[in-house]
Amino acid sequence: MIKLENLTKVFKKPIREEGVWGMFKTLFSVKYDETVAVDHINATIADGEIVGYIGSNGAGKSTTIKMMCGILAPTDGKVTVDGVEPYKARRKIASKIGVVFNQKTQLWRDIPLRIHGQLTLAKKRAAQKRRSF
Ligand SMILES: Nc1ncnc2c1ncn2[C@@H]1O[C@H](COP(=O)(O)OP(=O)(O)O)[C@@H](O)[C@H]1O
Ligand SMILES: [Mg+2]
Repeated sequence: MIKLENLTKVFKKPIREEGVWGMFKTLFSVKYDETVAVDHINATIADGEIVGYIGSNGAGKSTTIKMMCGILAPTDGKVTVDGVEPYKARRKIASKIGVVFNQKTQLWRDIPLRIHGQLTLAKKRAAQKRRSF
């Protein structure tokens, strides 16, 4: 079971000022630009349940998935996968998770995921070979 409880992610970026003096000031700056990417999301996904998660660009979908995989830690709230908080036990839950982050033009809809993985790997290897010439 996957549980999202008030799951929140805020990205903080220091506001940089122009020039060398600005860079120096940034070292002591307390000014931050904040982006609330995921804002107190609640959801429960049962074992075997298939769900879609839709929203416009920048709505926070990828950030939510990254927290579900343990790639990012939540700023507030929590996500548990089978009772475990992913970012605290990435190795433990890695074997239970499959995730594809990609451009939609690269995720061909009519082929199985397994074949997609093989093709992606083959493309990567071909690119590596080309680079080594
Ligand atoms: N690493 C990051 N640092 C700063 N802001 C980010 C980062 N990742 C995503 N964002 C911002 O968080 C918001 C949600 O992004 P994202 O989760 O990628 O949305 P979606 O996948 O729904 O298009 C956007 O405003 C995006 O610019
Ligand atoms: Mg996305």
